[in-house]
Amino acid sequence: MIYLKTPEEIQRVREASILVSRTLGEVAKWVAPGVTTLKLDTIAREFIRDNGGRPACLGYGGFPGSICAEVNEIVVHGFPSNYTLREGDIIGTDCVVELNGYMGDTCYTFTVGEVDEKVLALCKTTKESLYKGIEACKEGKRIGDIANAVQTYCEARGYTIVREMCGHGIGKGMHEDPEVPNYGRRGTGALIKNGMCLAIEPMINLGSRNVVIEADGWTCRTKDRKPSAHYEHTVAVVDGKAEILTTFEYIQEALGDRFI
Ligand code: MF3
Ligand code: CO
Ligand code: CO
Repeated sequence: MIYLKTPEEIQRVREASILVSRTLGEVAKWVAPGVTTLKLDTIAREFIRDNGGRPACLGYGGFPGSICAEVNEIVVHGFPSNYTLREGDIIGTDCVVELNGYMGDTCYTFTVGEVDEKVLALCKTTKESLYKGIEACKEGKRIGDIANAVQTYCEARGYTIVREMCGHGIGKGMHEDPEVPNYGRRGTGALIKNGMCLAIEPMINLGSRNVVIEADGWTCRTKDRKPSAHYEHTVAVVDGKAEILTTFEYIQEALGDRFI
C-alpha cells in the first residue's frame, strides 16, 4: 500500500530530512583516521536528541546503533563498533531521524584520508547515480525508470548493483511501499505520483554484485570483500518532479575542500 502524502505531511518529512542531513554534517566533522565508528554513532545520537528528534535506527528490529556504519566491504547495516578508521578506508554512515512522527533517511559515504583512486571513482559514480535516479523520478513515470537510470549509469562505468537491498517509500514508517530497486527495466513497477515520498539509495560494488549477511543477522558485506559505496536521499514528488528533501550541503560545509 503506497501512502500519498498531503503537503502538510511532506512538510514534516522535509523537517525530519533537514535534521538528519544536519546530523551527518556533524558526523562529517569527526570522520578521520583514529576515530571509532562508535564515536560517530554517539555524535549522531546526541545531536538528534539535542534537536528534538528520535534516532529511528536505534532499536529498530533490535538494531544497536543510531547510524549504520558501512566500512569498505560493508554494504549496509553494519553495527557501530570499536573499529578505528584508517587512512584509505571509506565509510558510509546511514541515518534515519524521526521528528514529529515523520522520517527522513540519508546516507553518505566518506573517504578517510587518501583513498585509492579506483575506490574514489566508485564513490563518485555512486553519488552521481543517485542524482540520475532522482532526475528520473517524475510524475507519470514508473519506479523502474528510477531503477534503470541508476543501473545504466553504474554498469556503463564497470560497477555492479546490489540486488538484495532497495530504496523504499518513507513517511510515518521508515520503510513503506513501494520498494525502489537500483536495477530494473524502464516503464515497469509502480506509477510515480505527486505526494509520494521515496528514499532512493544506490548500493554499488567495485567487484561482483554478490553479498553475504554476517552471523549477526544484519551486517551485509560484499562476498568478494571488495568495497561498496552507498548514498541516499529522501525525496518527495511535488509538482510533477522530485524535490530532494535531504541535502549533503552540511557535509560539504564540514569537509570543505575534502568534499568529493
Ligand atoms: N537507513 C536504512 C535504509 O536506508 C535502514 C536502516 S536499518 C536499521 O533503509 F535497522 F538500522 F534501522
Ligand atoms: Co538509509
Ligand atoms: Co533508506
